[in-house]
Amino acid sequence: MMSNFLELQTQRRSIYALGKNIDLSKAELTEVIQNAIKQAPSAFNSQSSRALILFGQESDDFWNKIAYSELEKVTPAEAFENTKAKLASFAAGVGTILLFEDQDVIKNLEENFPLYADNFQPWSEQAHGIALYATWLALTEQNIGMSVQHYNPLVDAQVAAKYDLPANWKLRAQIPFGSIEAPAGEKEFMADQDRFKVFGD
Ligand SMILES: Cc1cc2nc3c(=O)[nH]c(=O)nc-3n(C[C@H](O)[C@H](O)[C@H](O)COP(=O)(O)O)c2cc1C
Repeated sequence: MMSNFLELQTQRRSIYALGKNIDLSKAELTEVIQNAIKQAPSAFNSQSSRALILFGQESDDFWNKIAYSELEKVTPAEAFENTKAKLASFAAGVGTILLFEDQDVIKNLEENFPLYADNFQPWSEQAHGIALYATWLALTEQNIGMSVQHYNPLVDAQVAAKYDLPANWKLRAQIPFGSIEAPAGEKEFMADQDRFKVFGD
């Protein structure tokens, strides 16, 4: 019994072979991404997620200049060819979303609701995860591929300086997206009986 939602969930995969063969305009893609993040729930409706949506050369420069220059410093020379190829594959799409969590929102909540203070940091990470997944599903629905990358905190300083971002925007994930040039491989699932326990009538 697959609902449309479960079908969409099943269709969503990490897509690494990205291209530029997309019919949606930049404005349409922006609307999809913005709405996905905007409609995602957050603790106390704090709306702590922030996003930088990079298209074209800006996306390319994020991978081939910013990430490249930082990774070159920390990657052994013999491994850097692989790294370069990986970065080029992320740059091959049409854009990149940089997802942040606003640390000032968390700080304010901690101060205003001391009873819950210990929860706001994990709740911010949960809100981030929900926003990320909502974006993933929304792009999947448009037949657009993406993967989730984590080159933070290596790239943080360059990104903040280039886009003049407030210091309270903490980078949490980098999402290259584009047309699906090759499907994801087979995915293995652990046995349901090791994950789920059901009791009662
Ligand atoms: C919180 C989280 C962090 C992830 N980080 C990365 C990452 O840094 N690089 C990457 O290539 N994939 C990353 N992934 C993707 C997972 O590896 C992928 O979702 C998982 O292997 C299942 O494959 P699927 O997305 O094709 O269903 C991440 C996924 C999640 C949920």
